[in-house]
Amino acid sequence: MTTTRATAIDPKVEAWLDARADERLESYKAFLRIPSISALPEHAADCRRAAEWIADDLRRIGVDHVEVADTSGHPVVYGDWLRAADAPTALVYCHYDVQPVDPLDLWQSPPFEPAVVDGRMLARGASDDKGQIHMHLRAAEALLATRRALPINVKFVFEGDEESSAAPLERWLVANRDRLAADVGVISDTGFFEGNIPAITVGLRGLMYAQIDVVGSPVDLHSGGYGGVVQNPANALASIIAALHDGDGRVAIPGFYDDVDPLSDDDRRRFADLPFDEDAYLAELELPGLFGEPGYTTLERRGARPSLDVNGMWSGFQGEGAKTIIPAHAHAKVSARLVPSQDPDVIFDRLEAFVRRIAPPGVRTSVTKIGGGRPSVTPVDHPVTQAAARALEATFGRAPVYIREGGSIPVCASFEGTLGLPVVLLGFAPPNNHAHAPNEWMDLENHEMGIRTIVRLLDEIAALPSASA
Ligand code: BES
Ligand code: MN
Ligand code: MN
Repeated sequence: MTTTRATAIDPKVEAWLDARADERLESYKAFLRIPSISALPEHAADCRRAAEWIADDLRRIGVDHVEVADTSGHPVVYGDWLRAADAPTALVYCHYDVQPVDPLDLWQSPPFEPAVVDGRMLARGASDDKGQIHMHLRAAEALLATRRALPINVKFVFEGDEESSAAPLERWLVANRDRLAADVGVISDTGFFEGNIPAITVGLRGLMYAQIDVVGSPVDLHSGGYGGVVQNPANALASIIAALHDGDGRVAIPGFYDDVDPLSDDDRRRFADLPFDEDAYLAELELPGLFGEPGYTTLERRGARPSLDVNGMWSGFQGEGAKTIIPAHAHAKVSARLVPSQDPDVIFDRLEAFVRRIAPPGVRTSVTKIGGGRPSVTPVDHPVTQAAARALEATFGRAPVYIREGGSIPVCASFEGTLGLPVVLLGFAPPNNHAHAPNEWMDLENHEMGIRTIVRLLDEIAALPSASA
């Protein structure tokens, strides 16, 4: 591991940023106060408010062509600054929507009343992903204020459906393909490695999301009168779910692993070389042990092997005491994390075929597709990836590690496929940031240093030999 001393950015930009730390904390908080939960229809107006908040900010700092564009979902915010003649163009992406906040009672402070506690910003969206939008805004502002220019051309795309559906943005990208032309995509929606080590993500898993419904008689039945006489939907669903894995943690759906790209020796070495403290990881999880597919390390299982999980299941009586029924129906939400070259539609078909085959008699079983997204691997050796690595190292005093992550950002594959762009995943969330859970937080040092890293990245890209960005 190389450790170098962090160096200062452009002193004029640093001085400008330094003088505005309090103001910056306030604008971060103001943005986080907008409850932009994309999945809940009652927050649609809040999503629009968040989009307008970003658009106002972009206009104020001097970004051109700012627009809050309607989509089939929540609005996309677009803005660009294209006055750097002959310089490359980066397409910057983040999402302003956030996950729902339940269970509310587990939050230390209300999710949309941002609080600074021990160097952390505590709020829904602090890390995923409003904090990272805020970093891009403040970096661009500092550059435009001090130099009246950005070092390169930048097109900003901030979407509001990432946490609930990939479809609206995908359609918008296709419809706006020409004006989104760029040399590179910069996606800031990932984080640092365990131990808060600076990282560049170079792989993301894809996703296949489905629901299994098992339906019996139209209403609950007395389990004395009918137990042993009819199929129980909850029993039937349990037997289906139990058949999805073998006892060791392998997925048992026939064909599930057929299209998986095997790990190369190089891939395995890169995982093994990461400074991973498995004991600390386990301790943080407060678990008696880790579990998963045999034959692979924890980091391999998370970053480069597919997995399948029940996200939720419900059926029958859940109150206190006893109620003797055969439930009328039983349901499960099931998702698979996918790796190259798995296809979400193919995996859905294999799940559905398997469930149909093993579905117990005497009830009606169906499988419905809810969503999906493709996996991606991004290039380590692309000049802009290396520019990002230099920017991280110079700012944080430590060379980044390259990681393949378990989470999914379907837009990454869309940038690569639909727009034909190389992508750099430059994200600053601390590991274990409680994204999607109560008490989501952002390390304020990561936030501040991240702004400097973005400033440096734009300068680094500007300094690349032409044609290499
Ligand atoms: N920022 C995350 C993706 C992520 C998580 C990347 C962890 C790297 C590490 C993103 O907002 C997210 O939550 N994505 C969803 C998928 C989406 C299709 C709903 C996910 O991974 O569950
Ligand atoms: Mn995110
Ligand atoms: Mn998320």
